[in-house]
Amino acid sequence: MLILAGILWSSSALSRPYHYINVRMSWPEAQSYCRERFTDLATVDSMDEVNRLVNIVDAGYSGSVWIGLKRGTQKRWGWSNGENTTSQYYNWASGQPNGDGDCVVIYYGVWHDMSCSYKQYFVCYENSGYILIQSTKNWTDAQSYCRQNYTDLPTIHNSEQNNQINQILLSENYIWIGLFLDSWEWSDKWSLFFRHWAAGQPSQSSGSGDCVGMSTADSGKWAQYSCDLQQPFICHGDKLNRKQIVRLKLSCNECTLNDPSLQTSILHEISEKLKSMGLESESKLSWRKREDEKVFDQESNYMANSNNECKKQ
Ligand SMILES: *[C@@H]1O[C@H](CO)[C@@H](O)[C@H](O)[C@H]1NC(C)=O
Ligand SMILES: *[C@@H]1O[C@H](CO)[C@@H](O)[C@H](O)[C@H]1NC(C)=O
Ligand SMILES: *[C@@H]1O[C@H](CO)[C@@H](O)[C@H](O)[C@H]1NC(C)=O
Repeated sequence: MLILAGILWSSSALSRPYHYINVRMSWPEAQSYCRERFTDLATVDSMDEVNRLVNIVDAGYSGSVWIGLKRGTQKRWGWSNGENTTSQYYNWASGQPNGDGDCVVIYYGVWHDMSCSYKQYFVCYENSGYILIQSTKNWTDAQSYCRQNYTDLPTIHNSEQNNQINQILLSENYIWIGLFLDSWEWSDKWSLFFRHWAAGQPSQSSGSGDCVGMSTADSGKWAQYSCDLQQPFICHGDKLNRKQIVRLKLSCNECTLNDPSLQTSILHEISEKLKSMGLESESKLSWRKREDEKVFDQESNYMANSNNECKKQ
């Protein structure tokens, strides 16, 4: 019987370290590369992370790099600050949304969908509360304005917040809020709506590219490209190629554990087992030799047990 203990395969995504990979690949190739070695292509959920990403790209490179965003198949509502609409508070006017646009205004306290290219007043928020901006901008420009000068366009989670915003509004004006509809998805399916598009992006016309690159020159703004384009990319997550040493206790009747061919077949067996558990990707197993060049060490004269160590890398 073979007992394999203590294989530690966890990877923490909490701090989400980013890794700049300075090799040109298509988006799907870059995705596989990141999934094999880290967690996935980079996801980004705030301006702080946009800045972290810009900073890890080599100073000498001023082109665009792949991130994990790709055109999806389904349109979903999300908030400009990155939140999804799981809280399920909506305050649509009756008959709304009626499909005439991908951005949302509040008007007399209730919401209407509207083409994002219309120019309207808008509300920004920051810690101290909501600020009405009496300058007309389209939704994307309003978003940039709020992000640069305050925090973002507002997210409305409940009727209390909806009322607070409604109180500062001027009647008879449509006012942009942070709700929008889009069909872009992160590679790791993390349902996250933070977007940082460059001016004019994403393009409404079809065929303009289904994969997203971050421009290092344009303060980390995003644009669509053909997924076949070869460019450097950013992965996130911990490195998966950690070395793991596992101590095994084997018993063997009428055989010699230090027989190299037996050792090879045991390794093969472990490797197959790991694969069947979906664990072994790009990893190599090898025996670790002891100082006396032997892999196994006899535990006791009376028992046929041996110790050995096996190196996983
Ligand atoms: C908003 O206006 C800017 C120019 O100020 C333009 O580049 C951008 O495409 C417009 N966005 C939309 C959604 O109309
Ligand atoms: C931030 O506010 C200033 C002053 O109103 C304005 O000139 C600037 O364009 C704003 N930023 C953006 C990105 O709109
Ligand atoms: C919304 O986001 C939360 C936390 O960010 C996540 O747990 C949840 O699965 C997401 N909901 C959907 C519908 O994707």
